[in-house]
Amino acid sequence: MGLAGNVKASIDPVALDAWYPVWADSELPRSATRHTVLLETKLQIARRPDGDILIRVPECGIDLPILRRFGYLWTSLGHPTRDLFQIPEFDEPDRRNLAAGSIGVRASAPRTVENFLDLGHLPIVHVNYLGIEQKAEIKPYEIEITEEDGEVLARNCRVYQPQASLVATSGFEVEYTYRVPHPYCAILYKSSAIDEARSDVIAILVQPVDQDRSVAHMMVSVLDDQSSDKAIRAFQQFIFGQDKPILENQVPTRLPLDPRAEIPARVDATSSMYRRWLRAQGVRYGTLP
Ligand SMILES: [Fe+2]
Repeated sequence: MGLAGNVKASIDPVALDAWYPVWADSELPRSATRHTVLLETKLQIARRPDGDILIRVPECGIDLPILRRFGYLWTSLGHPTRDLFQIPEFDEPDRRNLAAGSIGVRASAPRTVENFLDLGHLPIVHVNYLGIEQKAEIKPYEIEITEEDGEVLARNCRVYQPQASLVATSGFEVEYTYRVPHPYCAILYKSSAIDEARSDVIAILVQPVDQDRSVAHMMVSVLDDQSSDKAIRAFQQFIFGQDKPILENQVPTRLPLDPRAEIPARVDATSSMYRRWLRAQGVRYGTLP
């Protein structure tokens, strides 16, 4: 196909054939053209006056496939072998679905996902919001690769959070579930502060710019009939603002997949499962062997 000759040899087939978010649907007005970089390839994203969207590699004039999901425009440089994962909660009528921000970060896509999965950083990096020092202990939780979808799934993670979300009026023990349905996307379900039986959904959808840089697109689907869109976005961006310097100071910027590469105590169960899962699938982009 047309793009094959333009794609770098460092891009493994799994990374090449995946779908990636490249722009927030709501941030692309009619008649506007925007530019971004995906897997070292420059892209042009445009919405025509009639509303049609176009994602093109200007260098070779090739139009790429487009998906509109979870408030973002997705594309692929390869040939996706399967549809994008589902987030069924997104379609529930009483939820607030928001593209909560797209933030450039000097870290590889897998490092960005791993940081999002790391329970241990909550009471340290997000102290007084998503954790407190006095309750920093991580209780045992369940982790598996699901048979049905082959996703990483961590369940029954429990963390005490003084300010779990914008609508939380007091601290409570929040239950977390993490799903990793895509090498560079992770979804967090956390108990809602206003309805114990349901969860807020926060997803980090990462666009690999190159092996050492990413754009973290955040999607929230929350139960909140009080806060403004602006306030919900600001809260997510504030939290990610705490992660960004931590992420950018990680050495190396690429994620080591060799289980002996980092001191085991620093890597929790979800992180090591994520690394093994990437390795087993043959994902190499943004990692170190
Ligand atoms: Fe964080």
